[in-house]
Amino acid sequence: MKSQTVLTLIFLSLFKICLCENSDSNNLVKSPNGTIFYFAYGSNLLTRRLHLNNPSAVFYSIAKLKNHRLDFILFEELWQGAVATIVEDDEEEVWGTVWTISADKLHHLDKQEGVSIGWYFAKNVTLITPSGQQLVARTYEEVDNPKNKTASFDLPMERRPSNTYLEAIALGAIESRLPPEYIGFIFSFPTNGKMATKERRDQLGYPF
Ligand SMILES: *[C@@H]1O[C@H](CO)[C@@H](O)[C@H](O)[C@H]1NC(C)=O
Ligand SMILES: *[C@@H]1O[C@H](CO)[C@@H](O)[C@H](O)[C@H]1NC(C)=O
Ligand SMILES: *[C@@H]1O[C@H](CO)[C@@H](O)[C@H](O)[C@H]1NC(C)=O
Repeated sequence: MKSQTVLTLIFLSLFKICLCENSDSNNLVKSPNGTIFYFAYGSNLLTRRLHLNNPSAVFYSIAKLKNHRLDFILFEELWQGAVATIVEDDEEEVWGTVWTISADKLHHLDKQEGVSIGWYFAKNVTLITPSGQQLVARTYEEVDNPKNKTASFDLPMERRPSNTYLEAIALGAIESRLPPEYIGFIFSFPTNGKMATKERRDQLGYPF
């Protein structure tokens, strides 16, 4: 009986060691029941923008997406400029905010991102938070992503965001306290010099 207990203890401790060596899966955080994690990196960094279409969204954390870069393409009429996308890129990373969203409200997000009309597609990405937590979140990438990588400050005119759009991203990044270097990086993208339409500005209560 005694030796059985000892063996059991040895077995359990070995098992624990195995789990620990399996490392990161230990830190995988689940979203609360009935919700999913959503990763915002563009204008949805700005709370009031996200809440226009997704009032149930609750801020969870900032987080980093590895092996992707922030880029811009696809002229959007209301914004009067190109909108943000993520592009797979081993040399870069994208910072953003993680929100919990009711799973039954996901269609609002899909609608905003124009999934059914071929603007963006949804994908699951693994993120890491500043405290080392890992989580899987839904995010959106443009269907017609840029083919060419340029330095942020060399963004061609037709791919530049409007002043209002870049302001929304930058303000969202400041509001959610993304790393200072990343906020600086956002400001390194040139704009096309335009303002969003009055309709979009009024929706957002611009000036922010
Ligand atoms: C999650 O919530 C739903 C309804 O809100 C409930 O039916 C279900 O049992 C819950 N699941 C867990 C794992 O708590
Ligand atoms: C993301 O993962 C969830 C859970 O496994 C799954 O239900 C969902 O379809 C996935 N979404 C995408 C866009 O792949
Ligand atoms: C990509 O860059 C190359 C070289 O700068 C240029 O010739 C080409 O037109 C660019 N393609 C697109 C789609 O912008």
